[in-house]
Amino acid sequence: MKKLIFANLKMYQNTKKEIDNYLNELNSEKLNFIAIPPIIYLDRFIQRGFTCGVQNISVYEEGAHTGETSVLSIKDMGCKYVLVGHSEIRNNETDKMINIKIKIILKNNLIPILCIGESLEAYNQKQTKEILKKQIQNALKDTNEKVIISYEPVWAIGTGKTPTNEEIIDIINYIKSLFNYDITVLYGGSVSLENIETLNKTNNVNGFLIGKAATNPSSLKKIIEVARM
Ligand code: PGA
Repeated sequence: MKKLIFANLKMYQNTKKEIDNYLNELNSEKLNFIAIPPIIYLDRFIQRGFTCGVQNISVYEEGAHTGETSVLSIKDMGCKYVLVGHSEIRNNETDKMINIKIKIILKNNLIPILCIGESLEAYNQKQTKEILKKQIQNALKDTNEKVIISYEPVWAIGTGKTPTNEEIIDIINYIKSLFNYDITVLYGGSVSLENIETLNKTNNVNGFLIGKAATNPSSLKKIIEVARM
């Protein structure tokens, strides 16, 4: 199966001009990936024919919740995927909130991408598997529909550091062993033009969630080319 590529654009591009330049370059390349743009620009991506996800949603579906974004509006706009539990958000939310978000995403027939990962301290203390198992159990409590998992060690996000291929293969196998279906598991954390050839040799990884490197269209294009070989 071809590897899936998700571009988590975070809050890197913050003007219409930047976004439109980015979209123009990507459109001309006809790149095959899933864009996860800043939510305010979601419609611009969808209008240009990109398959999209969002970086976060509210735990509430509707009502008096100032500043929140409902899964219902995301769905109505034609968005397909929702990141849940990204480490840049996890600090401000509980396991219970992550579980509620997963449930409302599934209820609305969208696909949750559950981000899990250990801290550097936990990695050094060899507690990675234990922590990932807990994150999965808590997030997916009382659910039985399919999700996507993205394994993103917290210490690898935005740092230029990655686990070795052996470590990634071992962890991805472990995550897959916790499910009774053929789950899609991504790797994320400092995926770049420099390391994609190496990372792509991890055969059990089903795709990559790319942050910073995805904001450069020519890097993204080359990463996709390598990952799809
Ligand atoms: P990065 O981000 O590629 O910039 O490390 C990945 C992510 O946070 O999803």
